[in-house]
Amino acid sequence: MALQQLQVEQPAVFDVPRSGAIGALAAEISMACENEGDFGAKARAALERAVACSDLLGSAQRQACCDGYARHVLYSDPLSRFTILAIVWGAGQFSPAHAHHTWCAYAVYDGPLHETVYTSDPSGLAKAVCTKVRNPGYSCFAGAGLEQIHRLGNAGTMPAISIHVYGVGRERVATHVNRVLEVVEQKDSLLDQDYEGAGAAPARHAR
Ligand SMILES: [Fe+2]
Repeated sequence: MALQQLQVEQPAVFDVPRSGAIGALAAEISMACENEGDFGAKARAALERAVACSDLLGSAQRQACCDGYARHVLYSDPLSRFTILAIVWGAGQFSPAHAHHTWCAYAVYDGPLHETVYTSDPSGLAKAVCTKVRNPGYSCFAGAGLEQIHRLGNAGTMPAISIHVYGVGRERVATHVNRVLEVVEQKDSLLDQDYEGAGAAPARHAR
């Protein structure tokens, strides 16, 4: 099993929003951290509200990177309980297959994205189960560990954007989120192209 750490794109300017859709998202996640109940459901609902806002991101937060998918820190919890990022996926950019060292949630803002879902075999390798298209508004939550093993990316020709919340402070978001896994080689195409809905939805937000 190979363990690697993904690098994070550092934003040129980092401001902690106290208002607007990012501020509201941060406040909802903070409240969910403090209160009992289904944290995952609360995080997903908050993300779904956030990605419904057409003006959620500024132009700098929509910038792609030709060297790999770009991560823009949108909010850092002052108590280091979580960090919110926008990930901009250029055409053909994908993450490696990975599990997570911490809880995580994401929602698609501008897409679609492609997500391959894996299971972990007894030797700890990742085995692909299916690939799904995640359209704008889609959200999910997973706990730390092997609960979610996946590979996200953009198979389209235009940039796509997802909003992620990770259960670590900003100082650890580059080193303590993704746990990259080796993938079982599959000679034949075993992926179940189980697309959501009929065809990919058009991007929700104009650039
Ligand atoms: Fe992930």
